[in-house]
Amino acid sequence: EKGGFGSFMDKEIHDQPQAVGDTLLGRTDLQGDLVLDDLRIDEAVLRTVDKIVVIACGTAAYAGHVAKYAIEHWCRIPVEVELAHEFRYRDPVVNEKTLVVAITQSGETMDTLMAVRHAREQGAKVISIVNTHGSTIPRESDAVLYTHAGPEIAVASTKAFLSQITAAYLLGLYLAQLRGNKFPDEIAEIYEALRAMPAKIQEVIDRGGRVREIARWMADTSSVLFLGRHVGFPVAMEGALKLKELAYIHAEGFAAGELKHGPIALIEPGQPVFVVVPSPRGRDSLHSKVISNIQEIRARGARTLVIAEDGDDAVLPFADEVFWVPQCPTLLSPLLTVVPLQIFACELATARGLDVDQPRNLAKSVTVE
Ligand code: BG6
Repeated sequence: EKGGFGSFMDKEIHDQPQAVGDTLLGRTDLQGDLVLDDLRIDEAVLRTVDKIVVIACGTAAYAGHVAKYAIEHWCRIPVEVELAHEFRYRDPVVNEKTLVVAITQSGETMDTLMAVRHAREQGAKVISIVNTHGSTIPRESDAVLYTHAGPEIAVASTKAFLSQITAAYLLGLYLAQLRGNKFPDEIAEIYEALRAMPAKIQEVIDRGGRVREIARWMADTSSVLFLGRHVGFPVAMEGALKLKELAYIHAEGFAAGELKHGPIALIEPGQPVFVVVPSPRGRDSLHSKVISNIQEIRARGARTLVIAEDGDDAVLPFADEVFWVPQCPTLLSPLLTVVPLQIFACELATARGLDVDQPRNLAKSVTVE
């Protein structure tokens, strides 16, 4: 069943190009317009919502953070992302003009389900992004957008995460189109870029040999930090979460801009730090700021493990290692930049002799609050 891989997680990392491709499949009509067949909600409501609140837990919440950057940029609707268990118990401002997007692989996470119920009681409409057909959360939502990742067996999420991000992009593009925030040719352009992503994800997986090697060398590491900015920030958080979950190593993700406000105090000689570098073709000020961050931590002795876009030679003077990813539009880049971090955590935990599919104390689906 593991298809020749050492673990379900390793197999599921390799399933990602297909999971993303399948989630995109059949969602445009002949004109290239987005068609979300299983999105059964009154379009008039979607035209008038004035706020989106994404609720989720764990890895699914990081997919929500990526969604925020994309949906706000494409649709100009304010998007909040909140952990489902925090949302439910703090009397959130939610009403008929709020669209709640619940993201969940299992469709059974109790914290997320309770948040969905609470939101609907306040009059909000709920769209759920779910991987498991026939589960509870889609039944209790006003609409559902299924991710087509196939069954995910490993407790730590990989292909479901990439599929959730993909589905959130589709939702953002759909809303942009519906609300007239973007011209159709711009939407078509982003959609084209999205369709090119499965092959690029495959490319990152194919280049995974070096990150596996480094992970094996680092099997005895006691702490790893992760930095990212813009959409690289949730990627850094997810990279840290994967390492905690699988390898039981202290790991923290930070927004790179926050470094000077505290985390830089943690840097001492030999501290490994992954840095997700924004594309130099995007907002160049962001790129150069993150390059400066790498320079700063390296000057204090950090071991810099850099994830950068092909051709970004500016990272070379300050990187101990570079893991290259193909070029793509910045907002889509998490689909690529998170993959070396997944491989790193999986390989490092395996090298430590741990069960990567069933980490201690964790369950695939947490059906209690
Ligand atoms: C956690 C799982 O308990 O629940 C994570 O270990 C997952 O992998 C999180 O991201 C949320 O689960 P779901 O099913 O709601 O996406």
